[in-house]
Amino acid sequence: MNFKEELKQKTEMAESVVMKFLPKEEGFARGLAEAVNYSMKSGGKRLRPLFMYESYRMCGGCHEVIEPFMAAIEMIHTHSLIHDDLPAIDGDLYRRGKKTTHAVFGEAMGVLSGDALLNLAYETAIRALFYPGDIQKIAGALKILADKTGILGMLGGQSVDVTNEKDEVWQIKKDMLDYIYLNKTAALIEAALMAGAVLAGASEREVSCMEEIGRKTGLAFQIQDDILDVTSTVEVLGKPVLSDEKNHKTTYVTLLGVESARREVERLTFEAINLLDTLPGEKDFLRELISYLAFREM
Ligand code: IPE
Ligand code: IPE
Ligand code: MG
Ligand code: MG
Ligand code: MG
Repeated sequence: MNFKEELKQKTEMAESVVMKFLPKEEGFARGLAEAVNYSMKSGGKRLRPLFMYESYRMCGGCHEVIEPFMAAIEMIHTHSLIHDDLPAIDGDLYRRGKKTTHAVFGEAMGVLSGDALLNLAYETAIRALFYPGDIQKIAGALKILADKTGILGMLGGQSVDVTNEKDEVWQIKKDMLDYIYLNKTAALIEAALMAGAVLAGASEREVSCMEEIGRKTGLAFQIQDDILDVTSTVEVLGKPVLSDEKNHKTTYVTLLGVESARREVERLTFEAINLLDTLPGEKDFLRELISYLAFREM
């Protein structure tokens, strides 16, 4: 099987795992479950559950306990997208090829369904405690998930990103931009790789190597997102282009230009793969996935 076929197959597997944990649309709060399911069922690359599964497999894991964690990380990610698209943040109307949640269900339901998904992520991950397995490993993975999502992770990054609106008197510098990208984007990719490794019983050294691989891959991923924002189309991306320009964002593209930003993506990807190759375990797919992302078109 070639890489593209394998990616398709594995994405479908991740998708079916995520679907198992979605809420039923019933009762008085049916509207909230509908808004949650609308965003969760809109597709997306399912990269974070895929990263988590591959890290778990590579470190020798082979049990169902990974499943609630795969669903949880995709829920946290989708929560971040619903809120990122709100009028108070990026104010975007398309996501994953469809109208954004707030555009369909209204702003209040956009806020609440984002909150509900973030909570559902923990409701879901906590279910792992009732699977047969090592409670210590599950506790370790829960801690990673929570830490990388909060003030010292994704939400911290998003909170500084909303102050990133260039005007004549103030423009953020590269060290602050790196802080934003390492948190708003890389933190969840780190969490995916680390939690997979911890659940499989990897050593501390392996887990911290996974963190570094996630850091480099995540930074490259966000820089590529900046590049696609100026070079792609809404049809290919499934979300608006020139969103960063609309919001007067400083990005890697505005700081370095497209060509240097591309070289940065390639450099970080090369470093991530070199680190991956220092780890034991079968990693051909994960290596190909990381290099594929450097040239992704969506
Ligand atoms: C979009 O993430 C937000 C960023 C961190 C750049 P993805 O590009 O992984 O979005 P989906 O899940 O495929 O929609
Ligand atoms: C968003 O960065 C990262 C998170 C949602 C945490 P962007 O604002 O660049 O993501 P897109 O381009 O809307 O997907
Ligand atoms: Mg944003
Ligand atoms: Mg955005
Ligand atoms: Mg973007």
